[in-house]
Amino acid sequence: MNLIHVSPCSAFSLNISEIAPDKSISHRSAMFSMLANGTSEITNFLRAQDTLNTLEIVKKLGASVEDDGNVIKISSNGIQESSEILDCGNSGTGMRLFCGLLSSANGHFILTGDEYLKRRPMKRVTLPLRNIGAKLDGRNDGDLAPLSIRGASLHAFDYESKIASAQVKSAMILAALRADGICTYTEPELSRDHTERMLKGMGAEISVDGLKTTVTPMKGLLSPLKIRVPADPSSAFFFAVAAAITPNSNVILEGVTLNVTRIEAFKALARMGADIRYEVTSDKYEPIGNIHVKHAPLSAITVEDNISWLIDELPVLSIAFACANGISTVKNAQELRVKESDRISTVVNALVACGIEVEEFEDGYSVKGGMLKSSTVDSSGDHRIAMSFMIAGLRCGMNVTDVDCVNTSFPNFFELLKKITRVEFK
Ligand code: S3P
Repeated sequence: MNLIHVSPCSAFSLNISEIAPDKSISHRSAMFSMLANGTSEITNFLRAQDTLNTLEIVKKLGASVEDDGNVIKISSNGIQESSEILDCGNSGTGMRLFCGLLSSANGHFILTGDEYLKRRPMKRVTLPLRNIGAKLDGRNDGDLAPLSIRGASLHAFDYESKIASAQVKSAMILAALRADGICTYTEPELSRDHTERMLKGMGAEISVDGLKTTVTPMKGLLSPLKIRVPADPSSAFFFAVAAAITPNSNVILEGVTLNVTRIEAFKALARMGADIRYEVTSDKYEPIGNIHVKHAPLSAITVEDNISWLIDELPVLSIAFACANGISTVKNAQELRVKESDRISTVVNALVACGIEVEEFEDGYSVKGGMLKSSTVDSSGDHRIAMSFMIAGLRCGMNVTDVDCVNTSFPNFFELLKKITRVEFK
């Protein structure tokens, strides 16, 4: 078990242009290239464990992948059956989107993952896919990986999802592209919309009207993607919180996607009092730009709307709550319990270990701002928990164990953290 010690930091002023590329967009760019009639070109692909696993799977499905270390070129002659098991590692996005993509492909496929992914619920995709004719199975009646998929003909559908999940929506959109008629997917709250934007950019007939997405099946293949993956706002947000909780500090986070479904956590931090400014620099598939964050005294807030827009950032937002004046509350966030760890209990237990008063609810928690104290926190194998408590260490010093998982989404996190403070591996 690896352990890291993070020392308290003093005021800093930093421009960061090396935030990890977006994980969601990287997964999708590799997968969607398999639907194109030519060579897709992806620059700034996230070279982290989760997305490299997706790229490896794309190769196993017969795509040709050329990588000169800068641009990744992917071309495919259609999805081929693989003699190998397809390992998604720690990635729920990888596994759920591949379910949608492979449900209609010619052949038989096995998807598996690591010990954490094998515990996460898959019925949210296997059930609606089975209902339109897909042949999917797994342990616990199709809920747990390893999953087996035999490609089949899929029927048109009108599906109303009970959860706001971009993974479920994306799996169903991918299935709809090969269904036998026009399909609609309605979600209870808008979830991140990279799939719709990217596939539309490739020429797919997808229209969005509020919470309802309508997909016309592909008539042929789509146009190849030419994309530069922007920086990941969920990764950038660790350094936004670092600046917001450190007096006299500021950071500029460069080249981040400013997609409205992804920057809600920055808006929450601004509601707490942090000084945050956005600067749009380009707009292809997504608006992209720089986010300026400056420290200011923080006050408590309640977070209960558009939860899917900041679901990944809640662990580190909770560190800002711990440094704020008053009691902050998170509600309607039961989805946190089925992420890489049960993030309600991992956040609550770790904050308690750091001397913070916390109350746990089924669908959230409340945090009373106070004085963070140095402690030893176990990441539970969850990258976002590991990074969140390293950021807490900037206030009070912190040991975090089991930190290898950071490589699943943000391999250069330690390098960037070292620009602010002393980081020792023990
Ligand atoms: C993701 C969607 C979110 C998010 C995950 C990435 C995606 O999950 O938590 O890290 O790329 O579609 P849900 O769609 O399950 O909420």
